Amino acid sequence: MSNTEQVLVLVKPDGVKRGLVGKVLERAEARGYTIARLEMRWATPELLARHYAEHKDKPFYPSLVEYMTSGPLVALVLEGAQVIVAFRTMAGATDPVKAAPGTIRGDFGRDWGTGEIQNIVHASDSPESAAREMAIWFPQA
Ligand code: RTP
Ligand code: MG
Repeated sequence: MSNTEQVLVLVKPDGVKRGLVGKVLERAEARGYTIARLEMRWATPELLARHYAEHKDKPFYPSLVEYMTSGPLVALVLEGAQVIVAFRTMAGATDPVKAAPGTIRGDFGRDWGTGEIQNIVHASDSPESAAREMAIWFPQA
């Protein structure tokens, strides 16, 4: 299938801690996407500096790294036609307070009063980001 895409998804440490891995995978599978790669990882600041390179000078970057290294996460690659746009839509708005009900962030996320945005999942936002991020998380693929 020539129009098949792949997207890099992370179930972030809050998603793992709260037992939401299954719910995220269930939603992806329910829509018919294929899980091409799946691995439990504990991100290092070095790996995150590559993954979130676009944010490294932002004021929230230190708290983002603290959040993303606060526990293990699950990295996966989903496959299917237009999966990049589809999974971003399924994830919902960055801020879970504003994410629509029915989205992963809108159904499972909230403001925990910690001052940082904890939002359960990451998903690549373009084909270029997906290729770059898959090379970071699954370099052997
Ligand atoms: P992600 O990259 O994790 O999929 O999230 P996103 O595209 O929806 O949002 P992005 O702008 O790329 O931000 C990356 C992550 O940084 C944290 N963040 N905190 N305090 C803040 O203003 C702020 N802004 C972003 C969130 O964890 C966000 O998912
Ligand atoms: Mg992003």
